[in-house]
Amino acid sequence: MKKVFWFTGLSASGKTTLANGLIEFLREQGLSSILIDGDDVRSGLSSDLNFSEACRYENIRRIAEISKLLLKQLDCVIVSTISPAENLREAARQIIGVNHFVLIYVSTPIEICIERDPKDLYKKSNAGLIRDLTGMGSKFEPPTKYDFIIDTSKQNKNDGLALLIKSTKITQ
Ligand code: ADX
Repeated sequence: MKKVFWFTGLSASGKTTLANGLIEFLREQGLSSILIDGDDVRSGLSSDLNFSEACRYENIRRIAEISKLLLKQLDCVIVSTISPAENLREAARQIIGVNHFVLIYVSTPIEICIERDPKDLYKKSNAGLIRDLTGMGSKFEPPTKYDFIIDTSKQNKNDGLALLIKSTKITQ
């Protein structure tokens, strides 16, 4: 199988919730899988990086390189990271290899993400405490090419996952 399922989308768009659902499914299928979450990487491996364009690139490069290493020993790697620009996602695709890279665009509109705001990031951005929050002070470029798109304000987790599994042809 050997696939990296790369979830891109705004903070609070639902990436990690879907990624967790997917990993549960893959493990039930007997596929060895691991989840790499942007927040975890940011708090450790990439704690020396900020949210400038250059640092986001370096962050994505590290995640892609680790994913590639892990894929040597596992069936699937799931990545949940904002990865806000086309060049970042393209770099990840090239590092991992085009045949192994599956891009899932979580397209939940920013208004919904702002309403959810589980980490109060959008509130902090509005209060001027974070300048470069993706979707606010810093842009998010919607992917033009992706393998699957899901808006979690329109689709519930289980239905969305079922469609994702069907359309990306996950089989053992
Ligand atoms: S990425 O842009 O480099 O792909 P990544 O997914 O690793 O971002 O990290 C995003 C997480 O960092 C968010 O979920 C949020 O908790 C935190 N964060 C802190 N500041 C910012 C910011 N300015 N922009 C985006 N995310 C931020």
